[in-house]
Amino acid sequence: MIELHVLPDPESVGLAAADAIDEVVRGGPCVLGLATGSSPDRVYDELARRHLAQPRPWASSRVFILDEYVGLPAGHPERYATVIRRAITDRVGIPSERVHAPDVDADDLVVAGARYDADIAAAGGVDLQLLGVGANGHIAFNEPGAPLDGGTHLAQLTARTRQDNARFFDGDVQAVPRTAMTQGIGTILRSRRALLVATGEAKAEAVAALASRDATSAVPVTALHRHDSVLVLVDEAAASGLDASAVLPDVRLVRPTRVPAGR
Ligand code: GLP
Repeated sequence: MIELHVLPDPESVGLAAADAIDEVVRGGPCVLGLATGSSPDRVYDELARRHLAQPRPWASSRVFILDEYVGLPAGHPERYATVIRRAITDRVGIPSERVHAPDVDADDLVVAGARYDADIAAAGGVDLQLLGVGANGHIAFNEPGAPLDGGTHLAQLTARTRQDNARFFDGDVQAVPRTAMTQGIGTILRSRRALLVATGEAKAEAVAALASRDATSAVPVTALHRHDSVLVLVDEAAASGLDASAVLPDVRLVRPTRVPAGR
């Protein structure tokens, strides 16, 4: 079941997503799946702000990062393990040994991928998986064509994704790695709950596909139809391609909703 909320603006999306994560963290020890990209930034800022205002038991949570570039040295500012520490986990005091990323430095990345999935399972599975979506519908680094049941694996990035991510590398597309390790769609579907955030017009096509197309590897985000519990939070711009008459029966479109109050 997918609950798709259309909110007025990116700020409202950030607050509502922070509400959902905050609730899980306040419930005690939990396992979170966290995403990079610019979409989660507002969410992380709001979570850090709340923690500063009134501490939450973040230190007892565990984090599994969705994906990681291959080829960037440890500590590189754009390596996702660095990005996640800077964006959220250092700010809320999660010890680094509780923040996991696929082992892109391993000799055998196939073994490393399987080990990452095993580590997630051993931690009890992901309670809440935060996701963004690429303009081409990718989730994590599962590009169009990725199998809907895959585990953590090595993925080739498309030219479009490398172009989209060049902004994190001073606009230099050549500096963007060509490969990454990513949780597979199968890994993502095993999370207990998924929370997808998307803002801006560039995401309109991917959001429209999610609402109206059955699971197809041509648009990886549509795999979420195979997940039991998905909350999708989008702003008006990302919702601009939605055709209410084409929305699939397993999607509950909520529009408009209250503007969530920041806490
Ligand atoms: C990146 C990440 C994804 C992310 C997506 C969208 O390539 N691997 O996990 O969801 O692209 O990023 P953004 O939120 O910056 O648009």
